[in-house]
Amino acid sequence: MSSQEDSLERQHEHLSDDGGQLVPTNPELPVDDPGVEEHIPRLADVDQAAADRAARQVIFMYAMVPVMAVLFVLAYYLIPRDMAVDFGPLHSSAQHVAMGLTLGIGILLIGLGTQQWARQLMSNHEIVEQRHDSSSPEDAKQEVLRQLDDGIAESGVPRRKMLLITALGAVGILAAPALVLLTDLGPVAGPNYRRRAYETTLWHEGVRLVNDITYTPVKASDMVIGQLVNGAPENLKDLHGTAFNNAKAKAPIVIVRMNPADITIPADRKDWQVSGILAYSKICTHVGCPISLWEQQTHHLLCPCHQSTFDLADAGKVVFGPAARALPQLPIKVDDQGYLVARSGFTVPVGPSYFERDSRHDLGESEEYR
Ligand code: FES
Repeated sequence: MSSQEDSLERQHEHLSDDGGQLVPTNPELPVDDPGVEEHIPRLADVDQAAADRAARQVIFMYAMVPVMAVLFVLAYYLIPRDMAVDFGPLHSSAQHVAMGLTLGIGILLIGLGTQQWARQLMSNHEIVEQRHDSSSPEDAKQEVLRQLDDGIAESGVPRRKMLLITALGAVGILAAPALVLLTDLGPVAGPNYRRRAYETTLWHEGVRLVNDITYTPVKASDMVIGQLVNGAPENLKDLHGTAFNNAKAKAPIVIVRMNPADITIPADRKDWQVSGILAYSKICTHVGCPISLWEQQTHHLLCPCHQSTFDLADAGKVVFGPAARALPQLPIKVDDQGYLVARSGFTVPVGPSYFERDSRHDLGESEEYR
């Protein structure tokens, strides 16, 4: 007999109680079936009042979830964003604390209610199932469906429909906090909002072009051919905080001086430049990176993000890369002291492209952007 067969033989034998002899018990099974422990009924199984009490507890917990959802929404709208609460050394937003507590308690109540339902009201009878081949014959599938029906029946739902209704309601109402938080994505960008937020810049007639670091005005006579200056509107320095950042993001320009003989100037832009000095938006029309990689010889301006290339000697047209629009040009002139100033605002929106670009069409206007 091989060692494997010997081992299998031993598995089918057990010591008898009396003689210490190895005797076969059930050769069909590798080990004896220990059987199922005695079922001990729960209080809710034998006492209808206890079962009803457990059901009321579950329903109460589910019913409190909508209350928590409403409190969450109220906290979002009613608690000022700058109100704070202190927990020892922790300085926290009162709104965030209230929203966290209400949402957390709501989810906890769903968990506790479901646990109480499963522990007290669903069937807890022990079931023995023999393992068979992994394939599922038709009668086994029918058995699964029958057990599923039994499970639904034993869950208590057919007799206590309120359990299911409150459970589904408790889970469903938690969509409300999620929907409320979506409002933080910002206002719907209608034409007026787009005009104000994206398309309007600080540029308008008479605003001086200044160096974007030193804020010193740029004098036309100081610029030499081939030079590029990163510029900004002079009125930018009057702003502070968020207003400053928003305005600065839209207003930057590059000022370049080229040999007038090298420049192709469209007929409608003849007076937009001063002796070969031109100004363009510094924001790439692809997805908005700031650009200032300047090739003096070719007059090309390269965007470092995705290599869009614009020809500043030919109205800022795209000569390479994914950008689909020319760089917006800022019309300029000189003031009576020889400093460069804007002749007007931009005539097209600056910045990257998007579907609803140029709110003037929606608003029925045709003026410059400012
Ligand atoms: S942002 Fe300039 S090429 Fe993409």
